[in-house]
Amino acid sequence: MKFLIIGSGGREHAIAWKLSMSPLVTDIFVSPGNGGTEAEAKCTNIAALDHENLVLFAKENSIDITVVGPELPLVEGLTDMFRRNGLAVIGPSKDGAQLEGSKAFSKNFMLNNGVKTGYYIEFDQYEEAVDYLSECDWPVVVKADGLAAGKGVIICKDFKEAEDALRKIMVDKIFGSAGDSVIIEEFLEGKEVSILSLVDGRTILPMLSAKDHKQIGNGNNGPNTGGMGVVAPNPWFTSEIESDFTKNILEPTLKGIQSEEWDFRGILFFGVIIAEGGAYLLEYNVRMGDPETQAILPLLNNDLAEVFQKIHYRELSDYSLEYRNESSCTVVAASGGYPGDYKKGMEITGTNELSQPLFISGAEKKEGKLLTKSGRALSVTAIADTIGEASDLAYREISKINFEGIYYRTDIGADL
Ligand SMILES: Nc1ncnc2c1ncn2[C@@H]1O[C@H](COP(=O)(O)OP(=O)(O)OP(=O)(O)O)[C@@H](O)[C@H]1O
Ligand SMILES: [Mg+2]
Repeated sequence: MKFLIIGSGGREHAIAWKLSMSPLVTDIFVSPGNGGTEAEAKCTNIAALDHENLVLFAKENSIDITVVGPELPLVEGLTDMFRRNGLAVIGPSKDGAQLEGSKAFSKNFMLNNGVKTGYYIEFDQYEEAVDYLSECDWPVVVKADGLAAGKGVIICKDFKEAEDALRKIMVDKIFGSAGDSVIIEEFLEGKEVSILSLVDGRTILPMLSAKDHKQIGNGNNGPNTGGMGVVAPNPWFTSEIESDFTKNILEPTLKGIQSEEWDFRGILFFGVIIAEGGAYLLEYNVRMGDPETQAILPLLNNDLAEVFQKIHYRELSDYSLEYRNESSCTVVAASGGYPGDYKKGMEITGTNELSQPLFISGAEKKEGKLLTKSGRALSVTAIADTIGEASDLAYREISKINFEGIYYRTDIGADL
């Protein structure tokens, strides 16, 4: 089989790495990929292409299945174009992708389908949103409606912070039209769990639970990032919470997807918080998480090419996922200064000395050297019997890697 993967991050590297192990797979193309994907067996990076040219490439190269990594092409409707052209693609249709593309749409969907989530109100007028603040209990969560690259959610502890957040989003338009409307949501205190799942429209098959670490600093301090580390499985996702999640979040979600009649053959990511009343859904994403994917795929025993086939042919109902009976810990290395300003083009050394999987997120090969290209440069995933051992091993491994200004949290998996 020939695969095309769209995207350029660590998630796409992990997908390419896992697909390359499949005896079913002969070729993997990644558009545009990165310095990690180009070094994987069977993998070739191709240029970043627009939607028309991706379809053309898939046709001309007889691609069997295309996997869309990031959310933006999904929200723009890339999968609809692929399917109209008779091409197999992993990702929801444009209408289904609104579950991630619009926070207001998504909360409305949850409410209409009885998915357990926090209380919220939507506003498209700044003055009305500010008026509502006088009725709120604090803190509140202000969320820009549209895609804002993970930066559109602001937790506000008092009126001043909330007014400020609303002004930046709705008046100053720091996220552009993503801030045409906002939701103001009740703050839920608790522990978060990421659940990636496979969806074929008839069945939702959850993958192993994971725990992301969003803040830049140890002890979950400092500003949010794209994710600085992950452990899987998530020890807080007990069987009791799992039953609550299945009954009150997963099953009503599947009913909702079916009643909307979307062509949802792809990935659905549930961002869950375990609060006083059990599991609540914070958000949906319609693609795999980054860095959750880097922690989960190394534990998966199934052939990933087969997994994607099952999604495409709507055969998930009698399929099951098998994992190594171990834990994983992924530690992300970023460029000093991230998520603020940082230097690029630093040479990464030590990558050949690792015994555990290395996933490149933002680095390119130039004249034989691997150079940093974005804030999160790479991650290492270690696997061991316990989370503690996986964490120790991940840190021993990542200490072999160096580039000027390298920064990583030193507590991923340490508190578990
Ligand atoms: N109602 C809430 N109560 C408490 N914390 C919240 C709430 N909503 C969001 N958060 C916090 O903000 C983070 C980001 O929120 P959310 O996942 O909705 O944003 P996002 O921008 O879509 O993020 P991502 O990049 O993960 O998709 C959550 O992981 C959680 O830590
Ligand atoms: Mg999201």
